[in-house]
Amino acid sequence: MTAVDREFDVIVWGATGFTGRLVAEYLLEQYGTGRELRWAMAGRNREKLEGVRGGLGPGAVGIPLITADSHNPESLRSMVERTSVICSTVGPFARHGSELVAACAASGTDYCDITGEVQWVRKMIDAHEDTARKTGARIVHCCGFDSIPSDLGTLFTHRQMQSLHGGPCESIKFRVRRMKGTFSGGTVASLLNALDEAREDRDARRTMGNPYGLNPEGEQQGPDGPDQRKPAWDPDVNSWTAPFVMAAINTRVVRRSNALCGYPYGKTFRYEEAVMTGRGPGGWARAVSMTAALGGFLVAASIGPARTLLNKLFLPQPGEGPDADARERGFFDIVLVGKRGADSIVTRVRADRDPGYGATSRMLGESAVCLAKDNLDTAGGSWTPASCMGDKLIRRLETSAGMSFELQENR
Ligand SMILES: NC(=O)c1ccc[n+]([C@@H]2O[C@H](COP(=O)([O-])OP(=O)(O)OC[C@H]3O[C@@H](n4cnc5c(N)ncnc54)[C@H](OP(=O)(O)O)[C@@H]3O)[C@@H](O)[C@H]2O)c1
Repeated sequence: MTAVDREFDVIVWGATGFTGRLVAEYLLEQYGTGRELRWAMAGRNREKLEGVRGGLGPGAVGIPLITADSHNPESLRSMVERTSVICSTVGPFARHGSELVAACAASGTDYCDITGEVQWVRKMIDAHEDTARKTGARIVHCCGFDSIPSDLGTLFTHRQMQSLHGGPCESIKFRVRRMKGTFSGGTVASLLNALDEAREDRDARRTMGNPYGLNPEGEQQGPDGPDQRKPAWDPDVNSWTAPFVMAAINTRVVRRSNALCGYPYGKTFRYEEAVMTGRGPGGWARAVSMTAALGGFLVAASIGPARTLLNKLFLPQPGEGPDADARERGFFDIVLVGKRGADSIVTRVRADRDPGYGATSRMLGESAVCLAKDNLDTAGGSWTPASCMGDKLIRRLETSAGMSFELQENR
C-alpha cells in the first residue's frame, strides 16, 4: 500500500497531552474535518480522547479517534499503517518515542515530532535511517520551537545573502531578542530525563557534548566549538548576551542540515546561538543572572533532594502548561546576523504566539501537513526540517501559522 492509499493524511499522536491537544485544535481551526485534510486524533486512553474531542466544540464531532500504546509495537503498527504522516507529541521521547519511530520507518510512514532530546535523536538516526531509506519513510525530528526558527531561519538568511551578495553566509549568529512564554510539565519531564541520561550513559554524554553530534558518521567535525556558557558582549547586535538553553539541540540540527544537503553553507560555516539581554550595566547584570539561573537549575535538577523540591514547589506537572491567555500574549522575536567577507545582513524570525506551545503546535501541525500534501522531492531517511521541507514549510508557516521571516538590514 502506498502512502496515498491510506485512510488518513495525518494522525496526531498524543492528542490528550498539553501540546497534542493544541495541535488538534490548530488543525481543526485551519483545515476542518474530512475536507482537504483527512486527519485523526490518537492516544492511549479512549475516554480521555473523547473528552478532548468534546472540548474542541461541535465542529470536532467527526474527528476519528484511534487508541494505541507507545510500548505496544503491534498497536503502533496498526495505527501507523493507516496514515501517510504521524505527528507526535508523546514525550519524553527518549522514554516513550522509540517504538513509534521504528514502526514508521518499517512501514514507510512519514513522521514528525517536537523532541529537543539530542541523545535520543542520535539513537533514532543510528537505529532507523537505513530502514527509512528502504521504505521511503521521512523521519523529521525537532519540528517545534526547537529547532524550526533556527533551522529555517538559517536557510532563509543564506538565501538572502545569496541573492544580495552572491554566495552563502560564512557565519550566522542567532540571537533571541525578545521572547515571552513558559514551560509545560512535559517539557520539564523531558529536560530532567535528558539530564539523567547524560549522567548514566557515556554515549549520550558524548553526543550531547559534540557540537557536530547529529552529523552523519565521518562528518562530525568543523570549526564550531561548545555552545556559549558565559555572559558575553556581542558588538554585532550591540548587546550583552547569555547562554540559550535550546542551543544544545538547535545548533546540532542546523549543522546536520548543512551536512545532509551537501554543505550548501560551506564546510567552514560557523553557527552559534545566545539570548540578548541589553546594553550597559543593566544588560550585563541580566546576562549574569540568566547564566546563573540556568546553571543553578541544571545543578539543582541533578541532585536528588533538590530536584524533588524543585518539582514539588516550582515546576508544572505532565499535562499542565500556560493557559490560552498566556499563549496568546506570548511571542518570540529572533534576529540572525549573517556575514560573508565584509558583507553582513540581519534577518528576523517572529511568531505571534508563545514559543513553546502556541507557536510550537502550529509549527508541528504545518510540518505534518507539509509532509502529507506538498509533494516534497525528499527520499526516505532521517532529515531535519530545513533539509526535508525547506522553503515549502517557510511558506506554510508564513501563510497560516502567524510566523514571519524577513530581511531587516543589509549592512
Ligand atoms: N520542541 C518544542 O518546542 C516543544 C514544545 C513543547 C513540548 N515539547 C515536548 O513535547 C513533549 C510533550 O509535552 P507536553 O507538555 O504536551 O506533555 P504532556 O502534557 O505530559 O503530554 C504527554 C502525552 O504523552 C502521552 N503518553 C505518555 N505515555 C504514553 C504511552 N505509554 N502511550 C501513549 N501515550 C502516552 C500522554 O497520554 P495521557 O494523556 O494518556 O497521559 C500525553 O498525551 C515533551 O517531550 C516536551 O518536551 C517540545
